Amino acid sequence: MLPNIIALLLTILSLGTQSLDAYAYEAMPGGNLFLINRTYKVDRLYVPDDLVVVDVEKTNPEITMRKEAATQLKAMFETAKTEKGYILVAVSGFRSYGTQSAIYKRKVEVTGSKQKANLYVAPPGCSEHQLGLAMDLGRKDTMGLNESFGESPEGQWVAQNAHRFGFIIRYQKEWTEITGYAYEPWHVRYVGVEHASRIYMMNIPLEHYIDLIFEAQRQNLLQQSMVVNQ
Ligand code: DAL
Ligand code: ZN
Repeated sequence: MLPNIIALLLTILSLGTQSLDAYAYEAMPGGNLFLINRTYKVDRLYVPDDLVVVDVEKTNPEITMRKEAATQLKAMFETAKTEKGYILVAVSGFRSYGTQSAIYKRKVEVTGSKQKANLYVAPPGCSEHQLGLAMDLGRKDTMGLNESFGESPEGQWVAQNAHRFGFIIRYQKEWTEITGYAYEPWHVRYVGVEHASRIYMMNIPLEHYIDLIFEAQRQNLLQQSMVVNQ
């Protein structure tokens, strides 16, 4: 595994200007790599303009996500079914600022403190669900979202295969200090197949992957300016 990670790291660092610029562009608002967390927030009025109802098994007929992500989600659900006979269920996709605000408020009431609620629910403006690029997954005939999804055959299949369809498990157990959230094996985030495959192989949080891209871009610019100044 380690040589693979080093090889991937070197690949990113040696990418040409064009690829690095394209990746950096994807990390801008509206792009598949756009980073959102408690530090980087999204405007309360932000609503993606390409939301579609997801054409998969779902707990609510109105669950939506962005078009490309929805297509890939469908491919993932179909593959889980044909390869393994697993039936995945979409539980929560796009959430407006207002919906996230209501969910957050309820969590603060239930847990009794903002500090506890913050571990599980993003404050409004801080949720990937508002980007339309996140989906919470469940299993058929199983209520609620909980850690047991990670141990279920369906959850393990998702953890090992989501990258093939462009999704990452965004909140891993050992990343709480970095992401700010507890383990959420059910929450997948769409970033596209190329990035998801690298992130899966390197086993790093999105925060670090994006840092790597911007660092590679910086190094690249530095090298170019040295060539120009020679
Ligand atoms: N549960 C995740 C962190 C969210 O609310 O976006
Ligand atoms: Zn989620």
